[in-house]
Amino acid sequence: MAIDYFGSPSCFRARDKPNIGREGLIMNPFFFRKQKSQTSLGAIAAVALCLVAFLSLAASPNPQPASPEASTLRQVAEARHIVIGTAAASFLLGEAEYASILGSEFSQLQAENEMKFGAIHPRPDTDPNPYNFAGGDDLVAFAQSHNMVVRGHTLLWHNNVPEWLKKGGYTSAQMATILQGHIHAVMTHYASKVYAWDVVNEAFNDDGTMRSTLWYDQPGIGAGVGTKYIEQSLRWAREADPKAKLFYNDYDAEEINKKSDAIYAMAKDFKKRGVPLDGVGFQTHITRKFDDPAKLKSYKENLERFAKLGLELHMTEIDVRLSNGDTSSLAEEGKLYGEITKLCVEQPACKVIQTWGFTDKHSWIPGFYKGLGWALPWDDNYQKKPAYEAMHDALAK
Ligand code: G3I
Repeated sequence: MAIDYFGSPSCFRARDKPNIGREGLIMNPFFFRKQKSQTSLGAIAAVALCLVAFLSLAASPNPQPASPEASTLRQVAEARHIVIGTAAASFLLGEAEYASILGSEFSQLQAENEMKFGAIHPRPDTDPNPYNFAGGDDLVAFAQSHNMVVRGHTLLWHNNVPEWLKKGGYTSAQMATILQGHIHAVMTHYASKVYAWDVVNEAFNDDGTMRSTLWYDQPGIGAGVGTKYIEQSLRWAREADPKAKLFYNDYDAEEINKKSDAIYAMAKDFKKRGVPLDGVGFQTHITRKFDDPAKLKSYKENLERFAKLGLELHMTEIDVRLSNGDTSSLAEEGKLYGEITKLCVEQPACKVIQTWGFTDKHSWIPGFYKGLGWALPWDDNYQKKPAYEAMHDALAK
């Protein structure tokens, strides 16, 4: 009998089987606390539940395993010790279907926007109230009440920078002070509630050079010294919350290419010099073109090389954008979702599979790509799509 990492008792779990290799999955103190205090009572209740389940199965003339259709994504993922996450928005929690799917199908929640710099630190530090934690706090409360872990996104990004910062005319030294203060304030506010952070998001160009941004060189805190400002941010993050896992996160770095080579070189250097980088996030915003054996093989080999550095790997923002209204592509979209899920399932260092939202009703895609949409596992009426079934199957196998 095991009490699993998610604080719930289980009769037969992957964890009881040898070689599952994901023992270090959740380091969230919220779960550990819950697990500790519930162990004795929880274990007794669980034994009773298992006994009842066993007796009713034995008494049945034709015992059948539970239909895989009846299980949620979260249940099949938990059995593999994989966290299944999604991005969410607090203003949607009042939508009954939204909240119901979010709280039952997923074991992780990440704020799609509400923990970004502009949202969470909308006013300068000279203001008596520079931070706005309201949206993030609502999401954390929802996650806690549904036994979900929370992944933080993101402390440093060129996008979503507030006007006061863009137009403030700050020097490099002032930018450094502001950034350190921001990292400290946000991470301490969410310490023990957010178990992992995308500390730095999208710092590289596609050709592997450093992206020119407010943080790097305009005026930046690291112009001309490559990944030094990323290193500095990671060090500040470790100081702010020593228990949080620290990630670098990017898009179009799934395959082995110039961008992923640059991230790999940085990660290798950081690991060698003891810079606190715990993992890499692969956003995985893709199209059906990714359903190509060469691309899938490249993603698999890319994950392998990062895993060999001892890093934890998360698929952080999965979606597959289609032409809006293209019903004939839904099966192919599903197939690709299944293949991507399988890549994570088969890579022991891959601990998180996360979609960027879960319903087409609230996806960012139509607003950013004219004529495209239908990128997520639920449609805009909250009906499961083939993508859902394919993820479920890949996790259940
Ligand atoms: O909340 C305001 C609303 O008050 C206003 O009326 C409206 C008018 O445009 O804008 C609303 O804010 C929008 C926000 O999404 C919330 O919907 C912003 O304009 C819009 O720019 C913002 O877009 C987000 C984008 O990041 C930029 O921050 C998307 O929702 C979000 O999905 C997207 O997520 C990024 C990841 O963080 C990093 N990786 C890529 C991914 C997709 O671009």
